[in-house]
Amino acid sequence: MPERIGFIGLGIMGWPMAENLVQAGYDLTVHNRTHSKAQRFAEKTGAQLAHSPKEVAESSDVVITMLPDSPDVQSVVAGEGGVLEGIREGALLIDMSTISPVVTRELASEVKKKGASMLDAPVSGGDVGAREGTLSIMVGGEEEDFERARPLFEAMGKTITHVGPSGAGQVVKAANQIVVALSIEAVSEALVLGSRGGVAPEKILDVLSGGLAGNRVMEVKREKFLSRSFEPGFRAELHHKDLGIALAAGREYGVALPVTALVDQMLLSMKKKGWGGEDHSALLRVIEDLSGDGTTE
Ligand SMILES: NC(=O)c1ccc[n+]([C@@H]2O[C@H](COP(=O)([O-])OP(=O)(O)OC[C@H]3O[C@@H](n4cnc5c(N)ncnc54)[C@H](OP(=O)(O)O)[C@@H]3O)[C@@H](O)[C@H]2O)c1
Repeated sequence: MPERIGFIGLGIMGWPMAENLVQAGYDLTVHNRTHSKAQRFAEKTGAQLAHSPKEVAESSDVVITMLPDSPDVQSVVAGEGGVLEGIREGALLIDMSTISPVVTRELASEVKKKGASMLDAPVSGGDVGAREGTLSIMVGGEEEDFERARPLFEAMGKTITHVGPSGAGQVVKAANQIVVALSIEAVSEALVLGSRGGVAPEKILDVLSGGLAGNRVMEVKREKFLSRSFEPGFRAELHHKDLGIALAAGREYGVALPVTALVDQMLLSMKKKGWGGEDHSALLRVIEDLSGDGTTE
C-alpha cells in the first residue's frame, strides 16, 4: 500500500509540490497556517484537511513540511500541537524548507527520540520547478530514509541527490543560495552599467549569455530584468534569510564569505525599502538606487 502523506505549508512552493504528489497517486492530508488556503487545496484535489500539524502527523506515515524559516519549522514540529505530539513510531519527517543546518540537526534528534526519523531535503528550481516537478532536491540524513522517500522526491523533482548525513542538505542549499544571490547581483551591476552606457539591456543579456559570463540567472530572470516587473518568484526577504543561514554556517566552520556578506546587506536594504516581497531579481533596483536612480545625473 502506498504511504499516507501529510503536507504542511501550501505556499508558492508547497502548493504545487503537494499537487504533484496527488497527481502521482498519493493520499494527502494537508495543513496550512491560513486554513482557507488548505480548504481550497482540499476542494481542488480531494486531499484530507487537518487543523494542526499534530493532526497531520497522527494520520500520516510520511510528513512533509514546506515552511518559510527555521522558527516556523521549529514551531510546527516541536511547538504546541506540533508534529512531534502526533508522530508515529517508524514515521518519516521530511523538511523541504530552507532552514539552518544547526536547527535541522536539533529537530532530527528530537524526532529520533520518538522512534521516527527525519530528512532535510531543501530544493532549488523555484516556483517554475515546483509546478513542473523538476526541482533539484538535496537530501541530508540516513541512506535508508532517503531510499524510502525517493518515490516522493521523484514526483516533485528531477535531480535528486543524497548529499550526506543530517543537515548536509541544508549546507548544500546554503552554498546554492550564495551562488544565486551573487550571480543576480553581478548581472544587475552589468545591466545598470550597460544601460547607463547607452546599450539596451536585451542586447547585453544576449551577448553575455553567449560567453563565459553566461549563466542561468540571465536565462531564468531575463523577463523580470527586462520588464522590470518583480512579482515573486522567490521573495527577496527569503533570500536574505538564506544568506543569514550561509553566513552563520561560515562563522561556525571558520570560512570567510566576504561578498556574501555584502549582498546580504543589499537584501536587508531591500527589506527596509519595502521591496522584501519582490522577486530577488529586484536586486537590480538596489544597484539603480545606489547609482542615483537614473534621474539624478
Ligand atoms: N519560492 C521559491 O522560489 C523557493 C525556491 C526554493 C526554496 N524555497 C524555500 O521554500 C520554503 C517555502 O517558500 P515559499 O516561497 O513557498 O514560501 P511561502 O509562499 O511564504 O509559503 C509558506 C507557507 O507556509 C505556511 N506557513 C507558515 N507558517 C506556518 C505554520 N506555522 N503552520 C502552517 N503553515 C505555515 C504559510 O501559510 P500562510 O498561508 O498563512 O502564509 C505559507 O502557505 C522557504 O524556506 C524558501 O526559502 C523557495
